Amino acid sequence: MLLDSLDSLDSADPRLAALLGAIRVTTDDQRWKAPVLTTIPPLLKRKDLAPAIAGDAEAIIARLTFDPSSLPEVEPWTETQRRLASHGAAAFASSCALCHGPAGKGQPGLGPSLIDSPWLLGEESIPIRLVLDGLTGPVEVEGETWDITMPGHRENPLLDDEGIAAILTWVRRQWGHGAEPIDPKAVTELRQLTAGRTLPWTVETLKGDPR
Ligand code: HEC
Repeated sequence: MLLDSLDSLDSADPRLAALLGAIRVTTDDQRWKAPVLTTIPPLLKRKDLAPAIAGDAEAIIARLTFDPSSLPEVEPWTETQRRLASHGAAAFASSCALCHGPAGKGQPGLGPSLIDSPWLLGEESIPIRLVLDGLTGPVEVEGETWDITMPGHRENPLLDDEGIAAILTWVRRQWGHGAEPIDPKAVTELRQLTAGRTLPWTVETLKGDPR
């Protein structure tokens, strides 16, 4: 597709800015019908893009539709899981996108990229506990070390167990991810198991005992 051929252009090449700008205008049109992709075109994930171009790339990703269930090894969602995930898309926009970006690519100084994140796509107790109580201390994402704090969502009045499961189910299948859905019951169980926790997790404690 066009985006793949543009990937050979240098980040300073003015044609790149002009063409991505034009693609963004097209995708911004509400009548534009997004093609269904399995992964993000590499050009849109490039780190060397100037801020203005990166903004266009982010906006284009947010308008694309991903369906990794067309990947052979991914089990399609059930109807219940599909409904959960569509609620998750909206909940992600209100509870996570501020720091991690609407397209999950991260926001400088606020939150790292979620794309291909082992913390998100790993064994389910890891992302569930991370969202409930947050994360602090050094964490390496895409070769960059972050050392700030993500606040937990245990007390977030907008996010009950179903909301957390919905966000995780959705985000674990966005942008080319193919991880298993998360059952709201798993969130309820871990919320109870970790009820005494007042501090955010660290990369080390997340690997250990769930309490
Ligand atoms: C207030 C900003 C903020 C919000 C809101 C937020 N995060 Fe985070 N998140 C962070 C920061 C900062 C880190 C890195 C923390 C550190 O340095 O230890 C992080 C780390 C993570 C990580 C592990 C690192 C990575 O990039 O893969 C995951 C997964 C994650 N967040 C998911 C979520 C999800 C899902 C939501 C919504 C429920 C969310 N976050 C809401 C700021 C935020």
